[in-house]
Amino acid sequence: MDTGTHGVHLLQHPLIQHKLTLIRDNRTGVKEFRELTEEMSLLMAYEVTRDLPLHAVEVITPVAPARSWVIEGKKLAVVAILRAGLGMVPGITRLIPGAKVGHVGIYRDPETLEPMLYYCKLPADIHERDVVLVDPMLATGGSVARALDILKEKGARTIKTMCLIAAPEGIALVRRKHPDAEIYAAAVDERLNDHGYIVPGLGDAGDRLFGTK
Ligand code: PRP
Ligand code: URA
Repeated sequence: MDTGTHGVHLLQHPLIQHKLTLIRDNRTGVKEFRELTEEMSLLMAYEVTRDLPLHAVEVITPVAPARSWVIEGKKLAVVAILRAGLGMVPGITRLIPGAKVGHVGIYRDPETLEPMLYYCKLPADIHERDVVLVDPMLATGGSVARALDILKEKGARTIKTMCLIAAPEGIALVRRKHPDAEIYAAAVDERLNDHGYIVPGLGDAGDRLFGTK
């Protein structure tokens, strides 16, 4: 893992980068796109959870007692930005089955690209949890910035944002509105086009994940 721009963690593990290439490919169909999103999310979660604190326990092996380590009673929540964030949840919950899952429904107004909030359901004890906020694409950054507003209003303890691809413009907006934001991405691409799509990106993540185009 490499921390390039302040607060941006570029996840350069070869498996993540290989899968990113496959997921960008316009020949990749819905089934494979879904599988790759899940696999990339699992691999990225491995990096995002790298600093979870451990505490020592004793476990009895078939041979002898052993001093060993378990993750401290930290409470995690995965919060998905609908729709496309849904595709990232299973990879993380496979790794952390006890994590609660929240949903924030946000879509971009097609004209203004402003984030429009239409749904929010978070774990009731979100104020006691460390949150991994997931959305495959961080484009203008409006959706993630709005979700961070909500999570902070609700008192989430810490928040890490995980996306597959980020645009420089979106990172700048999120960091301007939330200077403490920690963003984990597999790639930071060149720019946004006139329609607010990431170039080269991977297209519309929601449509590719759910086959709606
Ligand atoms: C996409 C994507 C992000 C958002 C990113 O969602 O999944 O949520 O755009 O763009 P931003 O950084 O400019 O806010 P979209 O609005 O297409 O909604 P959908 O997932 O419901 O299709
Ligand atoms: N949303 C997407 O799904 N893709 C982009 O490139 C930008 C926003």
